[in-house]
Amino acid sequence: MAEVQFQNITKTFGQTEVLTDISLDIADGEFCVFVGPSGCGKSTTLRILAGLEMPTSGRVFIDQKDVTDIAPKDRDIAMVFQNYALYPHMTVFENMAFGLKMRKFSKPEIQQRVEEAAEILSLKELLSRKPKALSGGQRQRVALGRAIVRKPKVFLFDEPLSNLDAKLRVQMRIEIKKLHQRLETTMVYVTHDQIEAMTMGQRIVVMNKGYIQQADEPLRVYNYPKNMFVAGFIGSPAMNFMDVYSEKGRVIIDGMETVLQYPLSESTGKQLIMGVRPEHIYMADSQSGLPAYVELVELLGDHVLARLKIKTCHITARFPSTEAIHPGERIFIGFKEDKIYFFDKKSGKRL
Ligand SMILES: Nc1ncnc2c1ncn2[C@@H]1O[C@H](COP(=O)(O)OP(=O)(O)OP(=O)(O)O)[C@@H](O)[C@H]1O
Ligand SMILES: [Mg+2]
Repeated sequence: MAEVQFQNITKTFGQTEVLTDISLDIADGEFCVFVGPSGCGKSTTLRILAGLEMPTSGRVFIDQKDVTDIAPKDRDIAMVFQNYALYPHMTVFENMAFGLKMRKFSKPEIQQRVEEAAEILSLKELLSRKPKALSGGQRQRVALGRAIVRKPKVFLFDEPLSNLDAKLRVQMRIEIKKLHQRLETTMVYVTHDQIEAMTMGQRIVVMNKGYIQQADEPLRVYNYPKNMFVAGFIGSPAMNFMDVYSEKGRVIIDGMETVLQYPLSESTGKQLIMGVRPEHIYMADSQSGLPAYVELVELLGDHVLARLKIKTCHITARFPSTEAIHPGERIFIGFKEDKIYFFDKKSGKRL
């Protein structure tokens, strides 16, 4: 068990800066998820924590000890990657025992640790099988087992589920959560999947282009995104953005004054971006609603996703499937007033 600290980490490869001033404290026992688009620097951050990559500047602490110059094997961490290559000629037991053997653990100690991990991961019946006789999910559990037997201070995961099919991914997500609840060990988990981040993380660190955009609890990231990037990245389907400008406390969308009042009186004449999530759009009557043209309707069971056009803006709305709505129709919509976001057009910061 240990806390983790990144202190002003910067990383350059050649001329390119891929991490800029990454500072973050991860609490003892926390499940912290790094999320962001491909190439934003998630794996590099994790590899710096693991000691597989040296930061260009800045320090890394594990359990309050500066480990920046310490070799990976002496950091007391265990890592699970996307490509969790198991040794094909070894049994499940031998695969899990291998790391301990290399570290010269005694036979009884190895036996006990592997059995304990097999118990936690429901692998007891499979200990004598070879990897080729296992399903994808079982193999992934063996990879987890290999990490668990080490009893590390910190677990590091780099997209461990991305090779699994959608159903198995959901299952493994739950297993890893349960594992965390049981072991209460600090876990740092990297994914580009915002749903994985939302469902697994006690805290989400949203990254983009080498910067931490926001580090917060999942619901805070969803409800109070710091900027347009976070607002657009977290949530599915993504938040709608519309170019608007404000005038005397009213918001004008594309020359069409909305009937709703917004508390923006101090920023009259300002160019803004208005953001509203699909789930915060509702069907309204012709008196109070904005006219919208229905371009497309996707039925998804209990709800539909409607692609709408308001003047020149295209937006997506999520309605209960009990609402009768058809392509080619003209409808009236409203935005839940307390769920509307405004962003500075230049900086992207939420106002
Ligand atoms: N050894 C390296 N040499 C040069 N550039 C590198 C090296 N490793 C990573 N990069 C670059 O650093 C940036 C961040 O890479 P990183 O692997 O951390 O991204 P990521 O967020 O994990 O992306 P993904 O979701 O695709 O795994 C990328 O632009 C990548 O091309
Ligand atoms: Mg990566």
